[in-house]
Amino acid sequence: MSGFRTAAVIGASVGIGAELVKQLVASGVVVAAVARRLPELEALQAACGGPDKVKIYVHDVKQFDEAPAVFDRLVAELGGLDCLIYNAGVMPRIEESEYNFAKDREMIEVNLLGAMAWFNPAAAFMEARRAGTLVGISSVAGDRGRRGNPAYHTSKAALTTYLEALRNRLFRYGVHVVTVKPGPVRTAMTEGLKLPLMIDADDAARGTLALARAGTGQGYVPVAWRPIMLAIQHVPSVLFRRTNI
Ligand SMILES: NC(=O)c1ccc[n+]([C@@H]2O[C@H](COP(=O)([O-])OP(=O)(O)OC[C@H]3O[C@@H](n4cnc5c(N)ncnc54)[C@H](OP(=O)(O)O)[C@@H]3O)[C@@H](O)[C@H]2O)c1
Repeated sequence: MSGFRTAAVIGASVGIGAELVKQLVASGVVVAAVARRLPELEALQAACGGPDKVKIYVHDVKQFDEAPAVFDRLVAELGGLDCLIYNAGVMPRIEESEYNFAKDREMIEVNLLGAMAWFNPAAAFMEARRAGTLVGISSVAGDRGRRGNPAYHTSKAALTTYLEALRNRLFRYGVHVVTVKPGPVRTAMTEGLKLPLMIDADDAARGTLALARAGTGQGYVPVAWRPIMLAIQHVPSVLFRRTNI
C-alpha cells in the first residue's frame, strides 16, 4: 500500500471528485483541488479545514495549453506530488435520434483530451522521480459501445486504452497507473436516471482510493461489476445491438 503525502484531484468541485478530496484530507493528505467553479471549491476547502489542507485552482480542462502551468504551480505549492487523479467528466443527455457534434466534442475534450493534457506533465514529473501514482476515472461505459451515448462510451474506452498504454510505459520507472471503472453513481451526472446497482459518491471515492493506494492496474467500483462486464463484453454484436443495454 502506497501512502500519499500530497495529491491532486482534477474535477474536484462536486460529486465523486469532492468526495475524493474529503477522504484524502481525512487520511492526512494535502490536496490540490482543480475545477471551474470557485464557490464549490471554496466550500470544499472550508469543509476540509482550510488552505493548509486543500489548495484550490480554478481551471477549465478544455484549456489544454494551461494544464502544464497549473500543474507546475500546484506541485510547487504542495511541495511535491505523490498522486494525481483525473476525475473531470461530462455526460450530456443524448436523445434517441439526436446526433450532436457540439455535445460529442465536449465529451471528448473533457473526458479524454483534458486527461492527456494533465497526465503528460504528471507522467514526466513522476518518471523523473521514479515514483508516483496516476489515476484515471474511466467507467464501465468504456467496456462496450452502447446505443445511448456513442461519444461518452468512446471517450471512456479511449481513456481506458490510453491509461493501459501509460501503465505499460511507466511501470519500469516505478510509477503506478490505475484505471478505475465505476458503475452508476448518484451524482449530478446521473440525476433523474434509473440505473442498476447505483452507489453513493462517497462509496465510489472509497473504492477509487483503495485501488489507487494498492497501485492496482485496473478495477471496478464496486467489484460486482467485474463479472457483469465480463459477461456483457462477450455478448455477440449481432445480439447486443438488439438489446437495450
Ligand atoms: N456518476 C456516474 O454514474 C459515473 C459512473 C462512472 C464514471 N463516472 C465518471 O466519474 C467522474 C466524476 O463524475 P461525477 O458523477 O462525480 O460527475 P459530476 O458530479 O457532474 O462532477 C463532475 C466534475 O468534473 C468537473 N468538470 C467537468 N467539466 C470540467 C471542465 N471543463 N474543467 C474542469 N473540471 C470539469 C466538474 O467541475 P466544474 O463543473 O466545477 O468544473 C465536477 O467537479 C467523471 O469522469 C464521470 O465520467 C461517473
